[in-house]
Amino acid sequence: MEAIFLVGGKGTRLHPLTLETPKPMLKVAGVPFIAHQIGYAKEHGVTRIVMAISYKNEQFLHYLGDGKGFGVEIIHAIEDQPLGTAGAIRNASRFLESDPQQPIAILNGDILSAHDMREQVALHNQMRADATLHLIRVADARPYGSVPTDAAGKIEDFVEKSDNPPTDFINAGCYIFTRSIIDQIPAGKVVSIERETFPALLAAGNPLWAYKSSSYWIDIGTPAAFLKASRDLVQGQFHSPVFATSTTMNYVHPDAHIGVNVQIDAGSSVGASQIGGDVLVEQSIIGDDVVVGSGAHICASIIGDGVQIGDGAHLRGVVIAGVGVSVPPNSRQIGEI
Ligand code: GDD
Ligand code: MG
Repeated sequence: MEAIFLVGGKGTRLHPLTLETPKPMLKVAGVPFIAHQIGYAKEHGVTRIVMAISYKNEQFLHYLGDGKGFGVEIIHAIEDQPLGTAGAIRNASRFLESDPQQPIAILNGDILSAHDMREQVALHNQMRADATLHLIRVADARPYGSVPTDAAGKIEDFVEKSDNPPTDFINAGCYIFTRSIIDQIPAGKVVSIERETFPALLAAGNPLWAYKSSSYWIDIGTPAAFLKASRDLVQGQFHSPVFATSTTMNYVHPDAHIGVNVQIDAGSSVGASQIGGDVLVEQSIIGDDVVVGSGAHICASIIGDGVQIGDGAHLRGVVIAGVGVSVPPNSRQIGEI
């Protein structure tokens, strides 16, 4: 099966991490997030992926190449200007090889999901749907696409990000589309799948179906969610085919230099960095080429590549990124994560 990955967003909620690196290229448990998603797609029968890229697209081209290193074929569809979610799908569809009646998987590029995409495809085929959306139930649907269905699971409406969502079943960002439907999206213009395409298809009576699941799911788009996803991967709450859980329940890059009496805890992840003595790293992510001075405490925080943390600094709930950025010794940085 062919897939389109939507990976052209700017990831503004993850600033300053995403000022230098696009969201799907941020490392989670030692590898760029997108590698976990490619692994997932491959496990569910995807053999060819068109990457819909725009923001900092050269980083995707460089890391993914033609996909050989990942065991799939990868083609890159570059948008000079971001075309929105449906515009990006339409732009990528030029590179699809599937027949008009065949199913295409479309994935938001910031989702970890354990649902069975093969079952989703089977349901799509069985219902002869134009599109089949993976839905999950959340406590607060306001920041998502709220998607009411009838008792059989046929989609009745699609309401993107509203104060009064009609249901707590939300769009989980994984669609199976019949190829011919994608080709009907207008080409060369900005179109939102959530705000334009889905409502228009429903108004025209096209059959859209829901595949509901209650399996593990997270959107990594905010610092708190990014930390949680990383911890869940590292601790094995979510299985990724490209990551093996260690018995320590933390991840430490083999080239990291770890000083004496260092405590790394609670599903933390430490890249190829230098950690001084008597340091505590708890529930945190430390990137590559970071220097952490002795006696520093880093809790519930994300430290980007190339940052320097002074001796004895205490950090809690903060995101710090930018090569060469330094945190003064013995300072206190308290944030909101
Ligand atoms: N190529 C391309 N071009 N990709 C884009 C563009 C674009 O112009 N705009 C956004 N994307 C990609 C992002 O990179 C991301 O992977 C995906 O589309 C979704 O964008 P987000 O910005 O993360 O959207 P969201 O999280 O607020 O909402 C979406 O996901 C929710 C589930 O997590 C919507 O699809 C909601 O309906 C859904 O509930
Ligand atoms: Mg998102």
